[in-house]
Amino acid sequence: MAEPTTQSATPTTGEAGSPPPFRHRHLLGIADLDPVEITALLDYSERMVEVSRQPNKKRATLKGRTQINLFFENSTRTQASFELAGKRLSADVMNMAVKSSSISKGETLIDTAATLNAMQPDVIVIRHSAAGAVELLSQKVGCSVINAGDGAHEHPTQALLDALTIRRHKNRLNGLTVAICGDIANSRVARSNLILLGQMQARTRVIAPATMLPPGIELLATEVFTDMEEGLKGADVVMMLRIQNERAHGKLIPSVREYYQFYGLDEKKLALAAPDAIVMHPGPMNRGVEIDPLVADCPASVIEEQVEMGVAVRMAVMETLLSQGNQ
Ligand code: CP
Repeated sequence: MAEPTTQSATPTTGEAGSPPPFRHRHLLGIADLDPVEITALLDYSERMVEVSRQPNKKRATLKGRTQINLFFENSTRTQASFELAGKRLSADVMNMAVKSSSISKGETLIDTAATLNAMQPDVIVIRHSAAGAVELLSQKVGCSVINAGDGAHEHPTQALLDALTIRRHKNRLNGLTVAICGDIANSRVARSNLILLGQMQARTRVIAPATMLPPGIELLATEVFTDMEEGLKGADVVMMLRIQNERAHGKLIPSVREYYQFYGLDEKKLALAAPDAIVMHPGPMNRGVEIDPLVADCPASVIEEQVEMGVAVRMAVMETLLSQGNQ
């Protein structure tokens, strides 16, 4: 297989081919990946987009393999897309019902991991409210582990699907100006995106009230703004984030109305971005809080496309991690 470059954006046709070589057993964070690995995963995801758009979406590549989804936090998009991705690859997929499991009786994460490990899974997909919990679990099991979001730390497949969506619209990542707006401090999506976009030589701007900016953010983002109108000027991509009330316990803003006035993306503010700017949101969206419904549904919005890319990226990641030679 040819050495992947970091600028490839060409969709392929025909057979999906083989996943790229990959030196990792787990996908715990974007911070572990270099630009060549990121590009190779995005290129392979393009092939999975093609597979997913065919009437017959089934591949036999994970036939006989077992995938366990273990979500300690709520999810719609990530859990559903990992399940669909596994099924499209012919894996046996088991969704652990965490709320009705023995975890609710006080079993520790480590004991849960050991129990699941004894069932010989090939991959465990985990979401947990504690940053670092997924990495800890990866040290206790004999299979691949994929981080589906750990606290405010990382959400690597979200950053990959966001990058794939951007690349499909702009044909590149390098040199683009990407504005990420909202609750940066509590967002694993922001953190993984900032790491990935920085690796790929994009210019990143974070826009938020001071209470939603974490200490040291200037080390991750190219520019930091508290004035949304300043931060949006000329941006190629506008990525909105919801307020993570589950992590901040509702103490981040004095009122939703005031937040919407200063940090909600409406048509007037969007007009400050580049004329061909795209609007993104990882979901779930809070219409009328961080985004005007008219903007969420406008032609510049690629929010539904992000969801489609999520399935393709997760197929590509699982096939890559579980392919012969990558284990
Ligand atoms: N983007 C994202 O992680 O959405 P879910 O919480 O619905 O999985």
